[in-house]
Amino acid sequence: MQRTTWKSLTLALMIGAAIPALTTAPALAQAVPAAKPAQPWLNAKLDADKRADLALAAMTSDEKFTVIFGYFGADMKPKYDRHPDSRDASAGYIAGVPRLGIPGQWQTDAGVGVATQGTRQGLRERTALPAGIATAATWNPELAQQGGAMIGKEARDSGFNVQLAGGINLMREPRNGRNFEYGGEDPWLAGVMVAAQIRGIQSNHIVSTIKHYALNGQETGRFFHSTNISDAAARTSDLLAFQFAIEQSDPHSVMCAYNRVNSVYACENDWLLNTVLKKDWGYKGYVMSDWGADHSSAKAANAGLDQQSAGEAFDKQPWFGAPLKADLAAGRVSQARIDDMARRVLRALFASGAVDHPLAGAPDSLPATTLAAHAKITQADAEEGIVLLKNDSGLLPLAKTAKTIAVIGGHADVGVLSGGGSSQVYPAGGRAVQGLEPATWPGPMIYYPSSPLKALAKRYPGAKVVYDDGTDPARAAKLAAESELALVFADQWTTESWDVATLDLPKNQDATIEAVAAANKKTVVVLITGGPVLMPWLDKVGAVVEAWFPGTAGGEAIARVLTGEVDATGRLPVSFPKSVADLPRPKLDGDPKKPEELFDIDYDIEGAAVGYKWYDAKKIEPLFAFGHGLSYTTFAYSNLKASAAGDKVTVSFDVKNTGARAGKDVPQVYVGPKAGGWEAPKRLAGFKKVSLAPGATQRVSLTVDPRLLATWDGKAHGWSIAAGAYDVSLGASSRVIASTVEVTLAAKALSVAGK
Ligand code: GLC
Repeated sequence: MQRTTWKSLTLALMIGAAIPALTTAPALAQAVPAAKPAQPWLNAKLDADKRADLALAAMTSDEKFTVIFGYFGADMKPKYDRHPDSRDASAGYIAGVPRLGIPGQWQTDAGVGVATQGTRQGLRERTALPAGIATAATWNPELAQQGGAMIGKEARDSGFNVQLAGGINLMREPRNGRNFEYGGEDPWLAGVMVAAQIRGIQSNHIVSTIKHYALNGQETGRFFHSTNISDAAARTSDLLAFQFAIEQSDPHSVMCAYNRVNSVYACENDWLLNTVLKKDWGYKGYVMSDWGADHSSAKAANAGLDQQSAGEAFDKQPWFGAPLKADLAAGRVSQARIDDMARRVLRALFASGAVDHPLAGAPDSLPATTLAAHAKITQADAEEGIVLLKNDSGLLPLAKTAKTIAVIGGHADVGVLSGGGSSQVYPAGGRAVQGLEPATWPGPMIYYPSSPLKALAKRYPGAKVVYDDGTDPARAAKLAAESELALVFADQWTTESWDVATLDLPKNQDATIEAVAAANKKTVVVLITGGPVLMPWLDKVGAVVEAWFPGTAGGEAIARVLTGEVDATGRLPVSFPKSVADLPRPKLDGDPKKPEELFDIDYDIEGAAVGYKWYDAKKIEPLFAFGHGLSYTTFAYSNLKASAAGDKVTVSFDVKNTGARAGKDVPQVYVGPKAGGWEAPKRLAGFKKVSLAPGATQRVSLTVDPRLLATWDGKAHGWSIAAGAYDVSLGASSRVIASTVEVTLAAKALSVAGK
């Protein structure tokens, strides 16, 4: 209720009394505009639930259907023309209700920045963050939030109020083409890091869409395959990542996935949508389908789907249009459910601020000053995501005195590779390499114009820094033999729609690395990949860094880390296996040549033991462990303490920089029951990125989410902490444990929310 002071009330009465007199005076006779019908839902002082209720009550039936039906935003001639009110070459558009002041919903992909659909080169050049897996590798939520805030601002400034970002599918399959878009293999790390990005994005008064819900762990057969897993295992792994992220960021939308889960399509899966998401977790936002993931009208709506995306372009029917209206008329879906669908969308538009902060236009380009400022943000993210995997005899940082440096492969002379598919951002300055296959979906394959060679040469003004494209191992080896240092850039394109057939580096790069390493023992390999790769040459090279897809300032970021201008501070968010034989499914399920084949993927092989948990449980040594990453300085951990008060476990410890230069470390806390009984011996329960000057010490204290100490009890429909002794370990990775203490916990039953 708006407060009115007596003075303004008196004034209003005086004017009110004067109006008849005024309106009869011929000179002033003019129609007093009819008062606009009250639109109380536009009162930003009311909460989103109240506003949604008020707006819904004012809607006609057709208007309710308007806000739950989406259009694709890119032409696919001659089959499909984009909606005229959509942004060109964008992901999607849902009409608004101008009569009620409800804006349209303009949707853009995705997790690294404002993407462009349909290979429209140069239409919308924007800033790209490093891949999601690189941001996860920073283990720095503040950076993830800054990056999200930046791409969310570019989305708003580009005319979008829905960003389809927040990819969080756990890495169960290292060959999954979309691992680069996600937050790694652990529910707590992925939950914390993706939540931070979503908070950043939504700080721009736009909707972020956590995805792909759920258990969408590979691309082969994604539209048809069924990922099968028990309720308890799902809730302790993939669903727990979503639950943590939703609790910590309140994404206003969830995107349900293409695949089936336990044989039921995710977008018509009552268990996933109604039971887990909306009932157990109390989710108040709306569920949108992935583009082509809606297979029904009433069945999907009744199972919990709230909005059909791109309804006329990819699904067999515009299900949430005429078919759902017919279902309503026939009683196959209730009015209450239709109202709930529309209300959830309205609530999101109010809660995000999209109604109160209208978009200000959709410019094709952003000011150069904006892009320059944003480059600093993506660079900071990329730098802290670079993981120093190996560094024999301190080969890195590169010697400042070097006079001859060979830079080989990976198009490092002109740019750095990015991941493919719907998340593809087109960079300012255009593509660094032209004519690469595939030219059409899921391509094009894009190198961002950020050259590691140029960035390095700038730092060695007096040196000879020579590039070889690496396609001829012998020629590359000759250059290496004539150089003090040899840097081999090895890259592997991964993309939505395709999984990689093997974890081997493509393009004969292993042979080039072998030849160069044989010619120069001071060989550094810089990996630019979307996930783990095999390294048959590992023992023959001096150093290896994993730079992932490093974004539109990637070249600069790589040079800063290689030269030691910044410490190497990334830690692996995924395990690197020694062989696919060590995986729960050595053979990748499905056949890429049969994209419409129905097949099952048994996630119950590993259940909740994803990634390092699998290797721990099976006593398999990975090539590089989850959490691993070297620094240019050294750190020591001490004074580990853990205490339990009920289900609240608090852990504290000291971290000291024992080296001679400033650096950043990520001490990690793992917990596990001495008596066993979990999916694996231990779980990540906390971490902290600390920045320390030489000799400095920081005391870190953190509390463990009680669900990480529990197992899922289906009968009680909640979490259960077993009484007994638990190890609390402090480590530099999941395999390098510095110290362990014990706490004793009493048995405790917890709600789904861990309370
Ligand atoms: C896709 C992707 C999804 C994306 C959507 C819109 O195929 O699976 O991540 O947001 O379509 O482009």
